[in-house]
Amino acid sequence: MSRLELRDIHKHFGGVRALKGVSFEVHGGEVHALVGENGAGKSTLIKVLAGVHMPDRGAVVMDGETLHLHHPSDATSRGIAVIYQELVQYPDLSVLENLFVHAQDVRGPFGLIDWAKLRRRGREVFQRMELDIDLDTPVGQLSTAQGQLIEIARALTRDARFVIMDEPTASLTEQDTEILHRIVRRLRDDGVGIIYISHRLEEIFEVADRVTVLRDGSSVGSERVENVDPGRLIAMMVGREMNNLFPELPAVTGDTVLEVRNLTRYGVLDDVSLHVRAGEIVGLAGLVGAGRSELARCVFGIDPIDRGEVLIDGRPVPRTPWGAMDAGVAYVSEDRKLDGLVLPMSIRDNMALPSLTRLERRGVYDVPAASKLATRFFELLQVRAPGVDTRVEDLSGGNQQKISLGRWLAREPRLLILDEPTRGIDVGAKSEIHRLMTELCGQGLAIVMISSELPEVLGMSHRIVVMRGGRVRGELARDDATQEAVMALAATDEPIQGGAAA
Ligand SMILES: Nc1ncnc2c1ncn2[C@@H]1O[C@H](COP(=O)(O)OP(=O)(O)OP(=O)(O)O)[C@@H](O)[C@H]1O
Ligand SMILES: [Mg+2]
Repeated sequence: MSRLELRDIHKHFGGVRALKGVSFEVHGGEVHALVGENGAGKSTLIKVLAGVHMPDRGAVVMDGETLHLHHPSDATSRGIAVIYQELVQYPDLSVLENLFVHAQDVRGPFGLIDWAKLRRRGREVFQRMELDIDLDTPVGQLSTAQGQLIEIARALTRDARFVIMDEPTASLTEQDTEILHRIVRRLRDDGVGIIYISHRLEEIFEVADRVTVLRDGSSVGSERVENVDPGRLIAMMVGREMNNLFPELPAVTGDTVLEVRNLTRYGVLDDVSLHVRAGEIVGLAGLVGAGRSELARCVFGIDPIDRGEVLIDGRPVPRTPWGAMDAGVAYVSEDRKLDGLVLPMSIRDNMALPSLTRLERRGVYDVPAASKLATRFFELLQVRAPGVDTRVEDLSGGNQQKISLGRWLAREPRLLILDEPTRGIDVGAKSEIHRLMTELCGQGLAIVMISSELPEVLGMSHRIVVMRGGRVRGELARDDATQEAVMALAATDEPIQGGAAA
């Protein structure tokens, strides 16, 4: 069995010491989870393994031999494949073309690409993965999950012995996650060593054999998963005991803030009606494609609607995002990277951007006021960075998400729509965000929360509205909601007992 060892890896960026001594080893035939809070150094570490970053100190050793990884191709040629948080794919090219787009050895005699040979190799790999995707489909037509699987397939076409996955299931549905897990296990049984980064602790217990915890750039320990429980793992990650229960929700007493009446967008949403009161959190549950994000986009005026009405405090919401913002709607979309974060700008300027009108004094950007505002949310969300002057592009993935959440909260909206608010966010910050949501609804904010994580929906909603196929399928009061009841509404078309159907 092959063995990949990391010995005392150090790496700094300017004044930031991202890695200060990481050591652990991964064997062929094991799934090795890597966990730690946002900014702990997980992505940096795998970039060292990928030949993207050179470590300042320490060694990467494979089967007793020290590797010199100066370039990504060095890692590839040693059988190390990395599947990043953001997929690098060409949407207009076919699956087959994407599989081999970076391969060096695809040319046959006379420098021609031997498509027949590539097709055979592609088929072989798909068979090994038990994947049923047409090689000629443009990748842009695939789901996120299928995109992930194509990346794994690409690694296998290059005979990867170690596959590293950075939050592979962060944007997958429950079903797709299961497919991915099945393939991960299959690779493991084939002798591949897998490093699996995730913030979802349940899946670590499901898929991993061992787990290594990083804290503040150092490895604090490796354990077999059967020897730890979630509480112990969290304690190792945050360095203290933490109860990961959801906060108590205050009772709802306010008037209706949001009212959606018979909203229809042909082919997407069909006669959707719902309301949210001040101080109320309504959880929108459903499978991917159920129409939850589409509803959010229509309420926020991004997508046009064909029929129906959207009202805030009884007044129609203008049908543009700017109009919706003026009417008091804030929308933190699920794709926060594309959501207006200006990566080369500082945390402060990014936080201040949506609130500019309030931060202007006689036409001049009021820097001290912006700093004050940014610092407040910086502290509230426990952003891990030297300060509010740090550029957003230098933050870890999870910390970037906290910034985009903070900038919307800073606007003090009437209605906050949160699409997957804690995806990719570590356990500590997650409970901070939950606490913040409770606090905000205590102050009378109305919140719509879209989440694919059932415990979060159940723990953080006063009421749960379940969607399926662009329709409201049913509604559950907090006390009647169970995972099974939500899934029954979300995943089946069977008639519903007890009159819960809408
Ligand atoms: N190119 C860079 N320049 C400056 N600082 C960086 C750079 N890349 C990472 N860092 C810093 O290094 C630290 C570790 O970041 P890293 O991305 O490895 O965290 P992570 O564990 O992957 O977090 P997350 O769970 O949020 O993805 C962070 O403080 C981050 O801001
Ligand atoms: Mg990361």
